[in-house]
Amino acid sequence: MIESKTQVAIIGGGPSGMLLSLLLHQEGIDNVVLERSTRAHVLSRIRAGVLEWSTVELLRRAGIGKRMDREGHVHNGTQVAWGGEHTLLFDINTYTGRHLMAYGQTAITEDLYQAHDALGSEVHHQVEQVELHELTGQPFVTYTQDGQTHRLNCDAIAGCDGFHGVSRGSIPANVQRNFEKVYPFGWLGILSETPPLDDIWYIQHPDGFALASQRNPMLSRYYVQCDLNDRPEDWSDERFWQTLLERMPPKLAAQVVTGPSIEKSIAPLRSFVTEPMRYGQLFLVGDAAHIVPPTGAKGLNLAMSDVYYLWRALVGRYRHNSEDLVDRYSQVALKRVWDTTRFSWWVTTLLHRFPDQTDFDLRTRLSELQYLSDSPVAMHQLAEQYGGFPIEDWG
Ligand code: APR
Ligand code: PHB
Repeated sequence: MIESKTQVAIIGGGPSGMLLSLLLHQEGIDNVVLERSTRAHVLSRIRAGVLEWSTVELLRRAGIGKRMDREGHVHNGTQVAWGGEHTLLFDINTYTGRHLMAYGQTAITEDLYQAHDALGSEVHHQVEQVELHELTGQPFVTYTQDGQTHRLNCDAIAGCDGFHGVSRGSIPANVQRNFEKVYPFGWLGILSETPPLDDIWYIQHPDGFALASQRNPMLSRYYVQCDLNDRPEDWSDERFWQTLLERMPPKLAAQVVTGPSIEKSIAPLRSFVTEPMRYGQLFLVGDAAHIVPPTGAKGLNLAMSDVYYLWRALVGRYRHNSEDLVDRYSQVALKRVWDTTRFSWWVTTLLHRFPDQTDFDLRTRLSELQYLSDSPVAMHQLAEQYGGFPIEDWG
């Protein structure tokens, strides 16, 4: 058994764990990241790429904003189309003065890993059998790496290990409450080396949702709603493009440049929240504690606000000898989680086809889209949520 010691053990080297680690290092708080996968695997994951302005500011504050500011695309909102001819801007800028930034999560992860390389921080990949111990006392983590067993003693554990991680399950069932909604459809996503549309587009169509997004001038990301039982092999490139273009208004479809897909995968849609987000010295962060469906692109942004709160709480503990923010972490983080969960559920329901939907359901959705077009008050309410729920100022 190889024994070592740190202040904060961080489980998971995705965006949550790596950003938290970087921010803590910058405050002189010692931490170690334990990641199950290889570095190459973490860096190759393709995820959403729309950032709220508070996320943009946090990444800049962490010192990793340079490439984002150079290569990201600033948007006033997101375009929505339906009924073959109607379009509407989910207009964040007019109503809140804020913007969105289109910048892929894959690029953010690269920027994070580069900053860690420069810092020489301790990030261990391919760790196995991670187990958390003594969460309500003096905690420690055990794991194996290259056949060796390790014990990492610490004061606090940040569970940043995503939905399938070990952290959430380390909280006793009798203190934990889970809330879940599984949607009866998936998203089939492709990447294609073609120039994207100028804007990000959400498309509502009686046959199902579609989305046009962007990565860089020669890389596009597109999605279509598909059946839960579909497999990527069921979708030839030809079938994908045909479905996408059929769902778009003809004027928009005419602007799409098609080409071979270089990646194709299906993601199920789910809403999930666990309460509380703290148990003893374990703090859950990001996808370990909550999942939102990708409509609205809130998953990464929500993870980033958890990171902010936990970072400031731990700075309070180590720099100001105060447990005040640590004690408020779960409650304050969950407030924003539930606001965002409700918004993501609402926008998912508005824009998708449900297998059991009736003509009545469809008409009420179309009526709501028209109402959003006609009423500045309705758009203001949407913009306030879509631009990102408030984050308490914790310094
Ligand atoms: N031990 C160590 N690491 C683990 C374990 C484990 N038992 N289980 C999972 N991990 C690692 C995963 O390999 C992954 O790299 O934890 C990391 C979790 O990363 P993410 O799933 O990306 O979660 P998070 O960092 O919270 O990022 C949230 O990801 O899913 C998107 O929409 C979501 O954009 C949001 C972001
Ligand atoms: C993406 O660019 O991958 C993307 C954009 C918006 C979403 C989801 C995903 O709502």
